[in-house]
Amino acid sequence: MTRKPAVVGNWKMELSHKGALELVRALKKLLAKVELTCDVVVCPSYPSLADVAAELKKSGRIAVGAQHVHWEDKGPWTGQVSVTQIAPFVSWCIVGHSEQRELVGLTEEEVRLQTHILINHGIIPIVCIGETASEQQADRTVEKITSQANSLFQNLTRVSLSKLVIAYEPIWAIGTGVTPEASSVAEIALLIRKIAASKFGNEAAQRLCILYGGSVTPDTVGPYVAEPGIDGVLVGGASVHPMQFVGIIKAVQEATQ
Ligand code: PGA
Repeated sequence: MTRKPAVVGNWKMELSHKGALELVRALKKLLAKVELTCDVVVCPSYPSLADVAAELKKSGRIAVGAQHVHWEDKGPWTGQVSVTQIAPFVSWCIVGHSEQRELVGLTEEEVRLQTHILINHGIIPIVCIGETASEQQADRTVEKITSQANSLFQNLTRVSLSKLVIAYEPIWAIGTGVTPEASSVAEIALLIRKIAASKFGNEAAQRLCILYGGSVTPDTVGPYVAEPGIDGVLVGGASVHPMQFVGIIKAVQEATQ
């Protein structure tokens, strides 16, 4: 079973609009002669989505994602952005990032609703799951991931499973420079796939794309993507540095070829 690897850049709130356009132009240039065998996705802030998408439209080599979406398609939700508003610009969207979960107190049910509404609009959700530092210290990682995966898979069909991506991001590894062993990330990927297999069958579970995220750099990425169960990475800090992001893409392509 071959799954297409993916490298996703989460630009968070790090760039000005001008900075976002400069970054995307730099990436285009650096990747111009690179044959892309993985999906490359960049996720700017909302105000830059349209212009970044316009910049990338012609070549179609780099996809655009949003960082968050509301679970309703319209309504009196001041400050929120709906799937119909992002749909003209994106083909991917991060869901349930730990920084969003913390900021707006997202529940597992809301994560599930966001996932569904994106799939219904043909946008690939990148659903983030992961344990906190205290859960990891209390040896509750398996329990947390099992509960998040079970919640996510509720009401999902076998067909819709193939239309989403899961990013395992231990919260204690995000932006800290502290990273888990690749073998323990591979064990978590296996756990997620086993839960998916028990609900949707082995073949569907083997098609599920699982990424790792948390302090990924060109120096740390290798061992993760060398694991056959890990299909790519969700990159935060390093994704706003064009040379580093391209270094990560090249390392992922080399390891997964
Ligand atoms: P990081 O962020 O690479 O800066 O740790 C990852 C993420 O938040 O998705």
